[in-house]
Amino acid sequence: MDGNLSANDISHIVDADRAHVWHHLTQHKPFETGEPRIIIEGKGMRVWDQKGKEYLDAVSGGVWTVNVGYGRESIANAVRDQLVKLPYFAGSAGSVPGALFAEKLISKMPGMTRVYQTNSGSEANEKAFKMVRQISHKNHGGKKFKILYRDRDYHGSTLAAMSAGGQDERNAQYGPFAPGFVRVPHCMEYRAHDQGMGDLTGEAYAEANVKAIEEVILAEGADTIGSLCLEPVTAGGGVIPAPEGYWPRIQELCRKYDILLHIDEVVCGVGRTGTEWFGYQHYGIEPDFVTMAKGVASGYAAIACCVTNERVFDMFKDNSDDPLNYFRDISTFGGCTAGPAAALECMRIIEDENLLENTTKMGERMVNNLNALSESHAIIGDVRGLGLFVGAELVTDRTSKEPADEKLVAQVVAECGAMGVIIGATNRSVPGFNNTLCFSPALISTADDIDNITETVGKALSRVFG
Ligand SMILES: Cc1ncc(COP(=O)(O)O)c(C=O)c1O
Repeated sequence: MDGNLSANDISHIVDADRAHVWHHLTQHKPFETGEPRIIIEGKGMRVWDQKGKEYLDAVSGGVWTVNVGYGRESIANAVRDQLVKLPYFAGSAGSVPGALFAEKLISKMPGMTRVYQTNSGSEANEKAFKMVRQISHKNHGGKKFKILYRDRDYHGSTLAAMSAGGQDERNAQYGPFAPGFVRVPHCMEYRAHDQGMGDLTGEAYAEANVKAIEEVILAEGADTIGSLCLEPVTAGGGVIPAPEGYWPRIQELCRKYDILLHIDEVVCGVGRTGTEWFGYQHYGIEPDFVTMAKGVASGYAAIACCVTNERVFDMFKDNSDDPLNYFRDISTFGGCTAGPAAALECMRIIEDENLLENTTKMGERMVNNLNALSESHAIIGDVRGLGLFVGAELVTDRTSKEPADEKLVAQVVAECGAMGVIIGATNRSVPGFNNTLCFSPALISTADDIDNITETVGKALSRVFG
């Protein structure tokens, strides 16, 4: 823990925070009497708060971001060297790290060719939405403008991204939303019965589910649908991998109706799901847009990207005489060079330390440990995930699948925190379903880290549910 800060310094920082900082996603009333948590320092998998308390971070900086762990001097050095040389120039010009990072990223994404740099996941998704709208105007008389999004998926905090938001508690009180966004059913096999799909499982569920999406397309008119935007594994909506056979059918559907496929890899991208660099690559699909943020530079600098294939890119340069015929968009901080400098170094670390393999191994260990816990904790209804991206849904009854009370779920998170392990839970997401514990430890996790996390969860479940 940072020895440079005296007790007086810390108390000043806490006072300044309580007086002036508006924390994200936080009700501030409790801070009138208690203290907000302030994270002072991080090293590897661990962070320390203002009281000097050490935590094992099982959520990579709270929101699945610090994928290569804290305290990486090589990233800090790469960013420092780049900032001294050139911190910024608008993205209408190129930069050295921007070009080298784009080349490296594309080498991991066969079929994709162009990287549009922005500064947040929400913004990256909005770029794709804008491209879809512009393609509709250029090629379809403005008619193919609708964007399909999925129940339970999340694509960001800006108003257009929320218009594509499938989490009604996140969206509540922020409407009205942008027109032209249409919801399709989620793909959560565990809750197929809530969708009127009875007890269908596996391929049969995937088939019925994708058919339900097709029905939405036909009802809206296929010639009005520009794109389908999906998370490869739904994150904040409950950590939901799609059932077997889902993705090839989605690809087929998009081809059949000439719908562009937009995969939101903001959480899954750059290693989080193990073995592959991106979540969609587990399923052999060929997206038109891939958006990413969080883990791209592991939070060492802000960088997000909207990556497209050449088919999309070509549509923006086919008539250079037309003054409107290019992507007329700029993201000021999309020209910051710290982002690609940090991202390049992050990718080097992932390769040199074999973190994709480690993620697969440690993810399997975590799922196995949680499944073992479920034998002694009936409250665990379902364990699911891919790589180091794992959820455990808590239910009061395994037959009815009644969600556990969210206050008790929050108490499990708090008990883990008290025992020095930071875990997460779905939060103000789907009404009545804030009942999934979320785990996304850094890709550097060791077997001991994973065992420590799941043992602590076991103790917390015993304390809260007996
Ligand atoms: C799947 C997904 N897409 C987009 C976003 C938005 O990213 P940002 O917070 O960087 O705008 C998030 C954030 O949690 C996310 O989980």
